[in-house]
Amino acid sequence: MKVLVIGGGGREHALVWMIEQSFFVRTVFCAPGNAGTNQIATNVDIDPNDFDALVDLVKNENIDLTIVGPEEPLTRGIVDVFRKNGLMIFGPNAKAAMLEGSKSFTKNLLKKYKIPSAKYQIFTDPDFAEQYVRDQNDFPIVIKADGLAAGKGVFICADLNESIVAIKEIMKDRKFGVAGASIVIEEFLQGEEASYIVMVDYNGNVLPLASSQDHKRVGNGDTGLNTGGMGAYSPAPAVTPEMEKRILNEIIYPTVAAMEKEECPFTGFLYAGIMIDPSGNPYVLEFNVRLGDPETQPILARMKTDLITLMTFASRGALNECEIKWDPQPAVCVVMATEGYPGSYEKGLPIDGIKRAEETGAIVFHAGTTLDKNCALVSSGGRVLGVTALGRDFVTAQKNAYQAVEEITSTGLFYRNDIADRAIGR
Ligand code: AMP
Ligand code: GLY
Repeated sequence: MKVLVIGGGGREHALVWMIEQSFFVRTVFCAPGNAGTNQIATNVDIDPNDFDALVDLVKNENIDLTIVGPEEPLTRGIVDVFRKNGLMIFGPNAKAAMLEGSKSFTKNLLKKYKIPSAKYQIFTDPDFAEQYVRDQNDFPIVIKADGLAAGKGVFICADLNESIVAIKEIMKDRKFGVAGASIVIEEFLQGEEASYIVMVDYNGNVLPLASSQDHKRVGNGDTGLNTGGMGAYSPAPAVTPEMEKRILNEIIYPTVAAMEKEECPFTGFLYAGIMIDPSGNPYVLEFNVRLGDPETQPILARMKTDLITLMTFASRGALNECEIKWDPQPAVCVVMATEGYPGSYEKGLPIDGIKRAEETGAIVFHAGTTLDKNCALVSSGGRVLGVTALGRDFVTAQKNAYQAVEEITSTGLFYRNDIADRAIGR
């Protein structure tokens, strides 16, 4: 089999790494990939949003299956285009991808089908939004750009002033472009977060992956700006077997059924960002229509079942016949990012020590890496590496991950020191 992975981050390196190990796979392509995927797959320099070029590639190379990493091609309809061309692809079509592409669509759906989520109001006029926040007594409140904003469109506003600034930045300054034409203002939920990702096939069968936990803020102790994710671990201890049942019964199954009812049935990876409140009730914070980054790295590090076999079952609408085996050991992924991220940062910093890090037993997933003209490994993005390690318990997995991180000697990279502390502190 020939498989194409679309994207070029750490999630895509993890996917390529997993798929390349499959007995059924002869060649893996990655578009555009990074220096890590380049070692185990064929990188093809095509933009994930250039659907014509991707369709040509798949036809010319006789690629059997395409898996999409990032959200943007999905919300722009890559699945619709591939299906029209008779090509096999795993993911939601543009209509179903609204679950991530439009927060107002999702909030309205959740409300209509009584799926638990924060109370909210939608605004298309900044003056009405401002009046609404002036009438609020309870802060913080949460203000979100409606459309895609690369994980940066959510503002937790501590007071009225911050709320007014957020409304201005999103709606008037259009910091996120058309994504800010409307906003969702919602109640602030307290509790413990977890990421819960499932595979969904065209018959509506749901196959859960292992739970995980992201670290969105840039700084230790969950301080500073939101990022794409500075580290992750799997499983998430907050998702006990009882909690998993509740998440499935109260959130995942009703959402899959609701999408079917709304005539936009969902297929692909469905990622629910969950908040478990202090009384132990799960709420939806958001949906993503794809795998998480960096959650994919620790999840796939633990996956003992062949991913391509799962994809084959999915393509037959038979995910109900599958079960996934997991390494019982937890996995921890520490992201190494370029100083300045998530703001502006330099590119082209030399990276050294990956081999030494891997010799400790860790897996080093690349994200923003490339080879310079002398074929030396250099950084090319904000998030650069995802150093991932397993261990018999969280203390050991964390120790193993940081031991490997310390082998990487690159000036200009930073990382959080507390990834998985919460799992250990429980
Ligand atoms: P989102 O991109 O919607 O997941 O939001 C990014 C982060 O903002 C989430 O992971 C939460 O930490 C936080 N967040 C989003 N919505 C809420 C909410 N209603 N209450 C509390 N925190 C939230
Ligand atoms: N790590 C969060 C996300 O992939 O959206």
